[in-house]
Amino acid sequence: MIDTQIAVIHGGNMDEDIIDHAAQLIRDGKLVAFPTETVYGLGANALDAKAVGGIFEAKGRPADNPLIVHIGSKGQFDRLTDGVKDIAQRLMDAFWPGPLTLVVRKSPLVPDIITAGLDTVALRMPRHDIALALINRAGVPIAAPSANISGSPSPTTARHVAKDLSGRVHLILDGGPCKVGVESTVLDITGERPVILRPGGITVEMLESVVGRVKVDPGVIRPVQGRPVRSPGMKYRHYSPRARMAVVEGGLKDIVDKITDLTRGYISQGKKVGILATQQTYGQYRDFDNVISLGDREHPDTIAESLYSALRRMDEEGVDIILAEGVAREGVGLAIMNRMDRAAAFNIIRV
Ligand code: TXA
Ligand code: MG
Repeated sequence: MIDTQIAVIHGGNMDEDIIDHAAQLIRDGKLVAFPTETVYGLGANALDAKAVGGIFEAKGRPADNPLIVHIGSKGQFDRLTDGVKDIAQRLMDAFWPGPLTLVVRKSPLVPDIITAGLDTVALRMPRHDIALALINRAGVPIAAPSANISGSPSPTTARHVAKDLSGRVHLILDGGPCKVGVESTVLDITGERPVILRPGGITVEMLESVVGRVKVDPGVIRPVQGRPVRSPGMKYRHYSPRARMAVVEGGLKDIVDKITDLTRGYISQGKKVGILATQQTYGQYRDFDNVISLGDREHPDTIAESLYSALRRMDEEGVDIILAEGVAREGVGLAIMNRMDRAAAFNIIRV
């Protein structure tokens, strides 16, 4: 067991000492959890294969699921990739720092353990002062998956990280809640046309405005079965609460009616039900306990921001079944539904 320290970053002049300490831990091959604009990451020196091994061990992550390398400068990008394409430059100019991860050909500098033996590497520059300060002070790129136990919802607060990883990480930097709330968009730009392997904060529409048509990998929408996966992360049960979960999709009134019926049915069987509603529908479930409004349907980014913490709260309440309202699969809604589908193990009810 490691004695896990938690350091709160206030935005004052004590912070520099904390970042220095965190950067030293990274250089010493230790694990540091830190906030990004998407979710908290579990970081280690990306150039140190042994330190990176510690990430897989702490999370219980399968060794065939590669990690994202976080960088703080264009120079690091050039050193970690093998030949920069024009399209990479345009995407970086438009979206970095920000929630876009680019899958590119790797340079020999990248240890195989990071890429799970693939000849590509996933790189991203986070839009977060603490993350960037840590990377730049450490002076090395930082490999970091989401700082949760493999399979559970990603952490959007330092408390979530501590709950999953206390005793397994040396330091947690607490920078408050994450703004985007779902993980970065993963875009493979090694082929003819860019392919979205995981939808996120940078939407299809935003990408297409810069690089023209992008493809969405079929694994984003459907479960992956019996065919090779381009993003190994897609094949695992993911983002899952302990409770069973179903997502109800369709017209808004039909969704509310269906969830109301199902809830009554489960309650009569003695089950504890949790409902993930939205601002537009919250008031219509007033007969029931354990109802959380995820946010405003008119502003789906508010739904993305609160999704994971709501899933965790449902588990803390000890509900048996979570019934979630679906949202339109467009814009950031594509990322929200991708996470809900997986949290529910594709238990989707269409009404
Ligand atoms: O927002 C984020 O991306 C967060 C924060 C911490 O930056 N990180 C994150 O990392 O979500 P992780 O490890 O939980 O997800 C990485 C995803 C996985 O689905 C993985 O399969 C995919 O990126 N990936 C990594 N390297 C890849 C590669 N070379 N080719 C294809 N997919 C790759
Ligand atoms: Mg993850």
